Amino acid sequence: MSVLSGKKILLGITAGIAAYKTASLVRLFIKLDAEVKVVMTPASKDFITPLTLSTLSKNPVHSTFYDKEDENELWNNHVDLGLWADYMVIAPATANTMSKMANGTCDNLLLATYLSSKCPVYLAPAMDLDMYIHPSTKKSLDKLKSFGNTIIPATSGELASGLVGEGRMAEPEDIVAFIENDILSKLPLKGKKLLLTAGPTYEAIDPVRFIGNHSSGKMGFAIAKAAANLGAEVYLISGPSNQKINHSFVKRIDVVSAEDMYVAAHSYFNDVDIAILSAAVADYKPNNVASQKIKKKDSSLQIELAPTKDILASLGKIKKDQFLVGFALETNNELENAKGKLKRKKLDAIVLNSLQDKGAGFATDTNKITIIDKDLREKSFELKSKVEVAKDIINEIVKKINA
Ligand code: CTP
Repeated sequence: MSVLSGKKILLGITAGIAAYKTASLVRLFIKLDAEVKVVMTPASKDFITPLTLSTLSKNPVHSTFYDKEDENELWNNHVDLGLWADYMVIAPATANTMSKMANGTCDNLLLATYLSSKCPVYLAPAMDLDMYIHPSTKKSLDKLKSFGNTIIPATSGELASGLVGEGRMAEPEDIVAFIENDILSKLPLKGKKLLLTAGPTYEAIDPVRFIGNHSSGKMGFAIAKAAANLGAEVYLISGPSNQKINHSFVKRIDVVSAEDMYVAAHSYFNDVDIAILSAAVADYKPNNVASQKIKKKDSSLQIELAPTKDILASLGKIKKDQFLVGFALETNNELENAKGKLKRKKLDAIVLNSLQDKGAGFATDTNKITIIDKDLREKSFELKSKVEVAKDIINEIVKKINA
């Protein structure tokens, strides 16, 4: 999955011959599951039609503050467009537009949108070789970089003038690869490895029966995705769960019992920077697993249970520099119990959810958490979807490991 998947990309097109290549650029973004809106300078419409771009992007294309042909004459709100975008990409970026951007000129919709945007902005310059090396162009580029914009370097080759040299817009595939790599390199968990346990465990009674619990794995899988989206390489050790995950940074390891989870977690732990144990591990397992299905009798049946190994406590004992996070699901004396677990299991943080909070716990799509760190500082969050809770947890961990 690309880092651009699900992202909102605002493509600004200015009047250079390379504008014809933006049809491919839009297609590439769409293929990566990004949402694309296009804003054009009026002159760029001589090089590629808005119809082509609106068809490919599946969104209306705007180039003026209102559409004269439209009988409703709707105002095209540059502020909304600018704030909508996760990333703005200006390709091709002409010398004229870059000069205006560098100087805060705002005489068309694209420039007004650029000034209104708060997201990262990428520029792919395109012009003739002498224009590209002109000191005024260099000055614009330097100024734009100093504003925090990122320049996708022009390449060398044959130019529309027939001259050969630097000034060709990077090819659409290279623009996409450049942006993906740039985003990845800036992600806060880039280069970090993360171990995560999720879901329930099943403890066999006989070949057809087991002791389990109602954990769905939703919380753990959401954490895996949130961490992977921030660049972490995630080892997701999951008990039996219907949850699905499709992310190139997530390796899923399926296990069944607490013992399987214990073995898998220990095999990855030495290699990771962060471990989050969100699984609802069975605390007890049948002492003996019957090799044949247990037959029904009229008398009562006793199953003797033995404690399972506590994976989290065991990792707490052997941990070196890993940031170790546990979960506590409590029904009473919540803070006290969670703090006790944090200390006993030698954790860096614990995520508490109380079953007394409506909407928190196993079977729901929402959760309400308090994160307690090793200095016993508490941070409570509102009731949110598990996807949002997962982002809060990962963001708190990022803050703590960078503190
Ligand atoms: N945990 C674990 N291995 C176990 C049991 C629990 O790794 N065998 C982890 C859970 O994944 C969770 C944390 O320990 O991160 C807390 O689990 P919980 O069952 O609430 O804590 P216990 O120490 O078992 O205490 P109790 O059941 O008495 O509340």
